[in-house]
Amino acid sequence: APSDPDLVARARAAKEALGERVFVLGHHYQRDEVIQFADVTGDSFKLAKDAAARPQAEYIVFCGVHFMAESADILTSDDQQVVLPDLAAGCSMADMATAEQVAECWDVLGEAGVADVTVPVSYMNSSADIKAFTGRHGGTICTSSNARRALDWAFENGEKVLFLPDQHLGRNTAVRDMGLSLEDCVVYNPHRPNGGLSTEELRAAKMILWRGHCSVHGRFSLDSVNDVRARMPGVNVLVHPECKHEVVAAADFVGSTEYIIKTLDAAPAGSKWAIGTELNLVRRLADRYAAEGKEIAFLDKTVCFCSTMNRIDLPHLVWALESLAAGTVVNRIRVDPETEKFAKLALERMLALP
Ligand code: 13P
Ligand code: SF4
Repeated sequence: APSDPDLVARARAAKEALGERVFVLGHHYQRDEVIQFADVTGDSFKLAKDAAARPQAEYIVFCGVHFMAESADILTSDDQQVVLPDLAAGCSMADMATAEQVAECWDVLGEAGVADVTVPVSYMNSSADIKAFTGRHGGTICTSSNARRALDWAFENGEKVLFLPDQHLGRNTAVRDMGLSLEDCVVYNPHRPNGGLSTEELRAAKMILWRGHCSVHGRFSLDSVNDVRARMPGVNVLVHPECKHEVVAAADFVGSTEYIIKTLDAAPAGSKWAIGTELNLVRRLADRYAAEGKEIAFLDKTVCFCSTMNRIDLPHLVWALESLAAGTVVNRIRVDPETEKFAKLALERMLALP
């Protein structure tokens, strides 16, 4: 739907009034009505770097989800203020690993005698607490665009990896990109005693995958891939690595949101694509490339937005910008200094990956 012209004018006026004092970041899953006001758009890795590269901006308005705003706060200076236009914009996957559960898991690994040889690797989609745990225990953060490099690094520094919280990104990277077998991976279930794993299983595993997943990407199935191949002969299937292993194994291309865009940019006219990721992005890409004769379809027949990404809408953005322009900082995201110290260590290890 077209954006409300009154709200568009208000957002524009507030942004103009703030000038260089505000910098607006927009994740690729944001609504069109919001993304039009982003100074930069990107995947989570690019946005983390871009937030850190704006020391002159007093305010960073993060149009994305909570863990992204936290990471921006960790990576920016203390006098820069990060604002999330709607505090209800969380991530259900990040919520699947709490600090208490992860501390308990580390104890379980310790009792099995494997904690000393295990390196934690945490997906960006996790709370600052989990990032701090990761930093404290010698681990690194990764995103979907550098998971392979993060795992290579981790295996140079230990024998096993505890991968938090997305089992699919962990499994897909280890098996598809690094040649590990499915049997090298075990799943730690935080809701079962000892994670539901025996000491033998923990000792034999190379990848200990946390039992977390993305509910949006979890909707794609092998049937979605088979159906689209039957419906669109010659189609290229391009999916995000948060999809289940069987979907990723059946796809032609796999990568982050930024990778998806670059791949479609480089695709020849007349090519056909089925995309397995969030719908705001897929619709925008379908519109953008239609003029070039690239046919872009959604991988599934059901509507599939990320409901928390969609919490950030134009009214919330206008409210945040107008408040800042009037001198009131609303919805500031602030990580406490102790958590920040160790979370930053883990994030900096990611930024230093080759
Ligand atoms: P990207 O880093 O690929 O943009 O993914 C972020 C995300 O939340 C995907 O669900
Ligand atoms: Fe979290 Fe999935 Fe939404 Fe990404 S798409 S923010 S992983 S719930």
